[in-house]
Amino acid sequence: MARRSPGWSRARRTTVAALAGLTLLGGVAHAAPSPAAAPAPAAQPEIGQPALDKNGCARIEQNLPTLSDWPKVDSQIAKNPKDEQRIAQIVAGMTLEEKVGQMTQPEISAITPDEVKQYAIGSVLNGGGSWPGGNKHATQQDWLNLADAYWTASKSTRTRIPVIWGIDAVHGNNNVYGATVFPQNIALGAAHDSCLVRDVENATARQIRATGQDWAFAPTLAVVQDDRWGRTYEGFSEDPRITRAYGYEAINGLQDGATKRIGYNGVIATAKHFIGDGGTTNGQDQGVNASSEADMINIHGQGYYGALAAGSQTVMASFNSWTNPDLGINEGKIHGSDKALNQILKGKIGFDGLVVSDWNGIGQVTGCTNASCPRAINAGIDLVMVPNDWKAFITNTVAQVRDGEIAQSRIDDAVTRILRVKLRAGILDEQKPSDRSYANSDEALKDNWLARDAVRESQTLLKNNNNVLPLKPKSKVLVVGKSADSISNQTGGWTLSWQGTGNTNADFPNATSILGGLRQDLGTANVTYDPTGTVDPKGYDAVIAVIGETPYAEGVGDLQRKTLEAAKLYPEDLATLDKVSGKGTPVVTVYVSGRPLYVNKELNRSDAFVEAWLPGTEGGGVADMLVKGKDGTGFQAKLSYSWPKSACQTPLNPWSPNYDPLFPLGYGLKTGQHATVGQLDETEGPVTCGSTGGGGTATEDLPIFDRTAVAPYQAFIGSAENWGGTLIGPNGTASHSAINVVPADVNVQADGLKTTWTGTGAGQVYLQNPSGTNDLRGYLNADSALEFDVIVNSPPVNRTVVSMHCVYPCFSEVKATKLFTDLPAGQKATVKIPLSCFANGLDFQNVNTPFLVYTDGAFSASFANVRWSPGGAKDPDAKACSDLT
Ligand code: BGC
Ligand code: BGC
Repeated sequence: MARRSPGWSRARRTTVAALAGLTLLGGVAHAAPSPAAAPAPAAQPEIGQPALDKNGCARIEQNLPTLSDWPKVDSQIAKNPKDEQRIAQIVAGMTLEEKVGQMTQPEISAITPDEVKQYAIGSVLNGGGSWPGGNKHATQQDWLNLADAYWTASKSTRTRIPVIWGIDAVHGNNNVYGATVFPQNIALGAAHDSCLVRDVENATARQIRATGQDWAFAPTLAVVQDDRWGRTYEGFSEDPRITRAYGYEAINGLQDGATKRIGYNGVIATAKHFIGDGGTTNGQDQGVNASSEADMINIHGQGYYGALAAGSQTVMASFNSWTNPDLGINEGKIHGSDKALNQILKGKIGFDGLVVSDWNGIGQVTGCTNASCPRAINAGIDLVMVPNDWKAFITNTVAQVRDGEIAQSRIDDAVTRILRVKLRAGILDEQKPSDRSYANSDEALKDNWLARDAVRESQTLLKNNNNVLPLKPKSKVLVVGKSADSISNQTGGWTLSWQGTGNTNADFPNATSILGGLRQDLGTANVTYDPTGTVDPKGYDAVIAVIGETPYAEGVGDLQRKTLEAAKLYPEDLATLDKVSGKGTPVVTVYVSGRPLYVNKELNRSDAFVEAWLPGTEGGGVADMLVKGKDGTGFQAKLSYSWPKSACQTPLNPWSPNYDPLFPLGYGLKTGQHATVGQLDETEGPVTCGSTGGGGTATEDLPIFDRTAVAPYQAFIGSAENWGGTLIGPNGTASHSAINVVPADVNVQADGLKTTWTGTGAGQVYLQNPSGTNDLRGYLNADSALEFDVIVNSPPVNRTVVSMHCVYPCFSEVKATKLFTDLPAGQKATVKIPLSCFANGLDFQNVNTPFLVYTDGAFSASFANVRWSPGGAKDPDAKACSDLT
């Protein structure tokens, strides 16, 4: 049962932290209120190596000292003068073009090995769901062949600097067919075991070496405050104390505890996403973090103090903004923030590795495009993730250095940092990827027993009335529920594909479903599988219902205004439970999810309730915990996220006002513990959290379409063939005779509906609440505008309208032919139409369709981020109604 524990040797230095102005709230460090008298200027806090726990890994501290300023972090990988000399020599011999090439990171589907050579490229990446040759089933050998080809190309440049390949190995080497996939970070957080994280990440490093990459875009160190965020499961915890200790050991695992050179077990790691990704308003992906600087330091910064002390060689900039005008904070997108990157990360904290930008992240900085962003480079981005537009990026950047927009010294610093990382990774002197340790090792790629152990350690027992669990060996069970035999549901996002969707069990040759695990543990004859719930539970020792969330990644998983109510998000699960509960046979629910949800109804219909998180490919670990004799020391895990007791209870953290969770942070039953969870309140939540207007004055945006339709709205197209409309499904595709839609990039990957009117008749694209109308008067009262981002691909040839419906034929419309014709084709624009332009005809108390575009000739445009925005009508760039008649 013991995990492989490499012999970690590490200097033990104690944490030195300035304790100025510290208060503790509920045992968690929290920023002190401003003292009345100005204190004497404190010395900058310093952070070194952490204290260790009884297993020899970073201890999860009870109390983290509140820091009064950004600390200086002392990395266990120290600067070495000899290395610095060697790097300076290489940099001195490079041309400007070679330097900019070194700073450029294209995507593997957009660059050939020959081009790596031609442009002296420094790094490549594969995005989530991108594989060699575009083949999901690419073999280990295919991955290695491509890695070798890029490497060989880079070694035949004038400078002979090897290229490095970065990959999103965020829960194991999860893009690779056949690889063992570990539990997502939220599950590891529940284990409260920093050695477990170290071991999982060390195994992940070997998996990466097995397929020839050099660099993991992991770990995510988000300290997640609002669980509506679609990346909640990528964070270890809402509690910075856990993230700090885990950050340290995750880096030790990936970089193999390196103090000088990353060894033959390790790869380069990435602390991401700096900074504040877990603290955006409403949990919106890539949104605005409005934290005070004290909270940035003491909450969102903590994971970095651990990771950088362990020597993380790279940091990825975050997509979010850092803005709060009331506090005088106006950094905007972190990618363009000199303060965040240069002054804080590289200055105060003292990070000497490289800062990589996120996927087209530079294009989101004001004044920039995906192919040009002097501001981001000047702010401190060293290596630029520019998946597709890399050629133009190189041309533009070289020109910007020549004309002085970017200083030569900034380029030299960026290249110095990149080479420093390559040198410390041992890559400057390495042989080709297929000749390195673990290359092509099937054993390294498959670490099922470690994964199974990680799963067991992370299973969190929330309810166990009458000690239903563990089941007796050889119990006869009836297994129901959509996730019992779904590797895709149990692995979640970032698994083979970006979203984790589109995979079947056949795509996971090296995996065990939870059902498979139960068959192993109880004997196949004792397990009846009944996915649809038609079998009478009478006569079985227990029903095991495996239900929960379905896969998502990044913003696609944002709940936005939707509530946390599982019964609304996944009604099929409640239906399953209703069929089996109350029949006299105990019901054990295994909940497979990437975040806590409001599950009171589901809990009431279960005698025992296990939160399984997203366990990965080893469903056997889930099964083990349910069966006596297989469950080791029994349930030990504790929530690293608070659990809500009502539908809109988010953000919900120990430092939230009136903290009143159903299960607090740190809750988790142990096997055999006597505890009863009584009947819970089943009050249904509203359709959406937050105000939808009503008769007052709206203050927050009404999101209508944000990468996907936002509840209660759904996206449709209609044409003369079917005005009733065809639902545009989650894949963003639909078509009719005169109109079709496919996904397109407007602001971010696949966030838009590319709508094409073919010219053969009338058609419309629209967002509608299919189950009724909403009172949205508050938006009109708030001087709101209908706002959307759009790229016109080809302008309309006939009359085009934007309209809103209060159940057709109740509607109002404005003429928009000229509006769309005037927009520069092929470029993104934001359109703002005052709601008052629709006031004549639209009944704002009964709106069912808040957005509709209609035309009867050819037209093509990609629409994204459709919303009603309070105050938008007063923006200087809002349209005048008189322009739209
Ligand atoms: C994500 C990063 C990821 C990158 C490369 C981005 O969309 O935010 O976490 O590393 O893509 O795939
Ligand atoms: C109607 C059309 C109308 C269009 C534009 C549709 O729902 O059926 O006749 O022209 O909306 O508002």
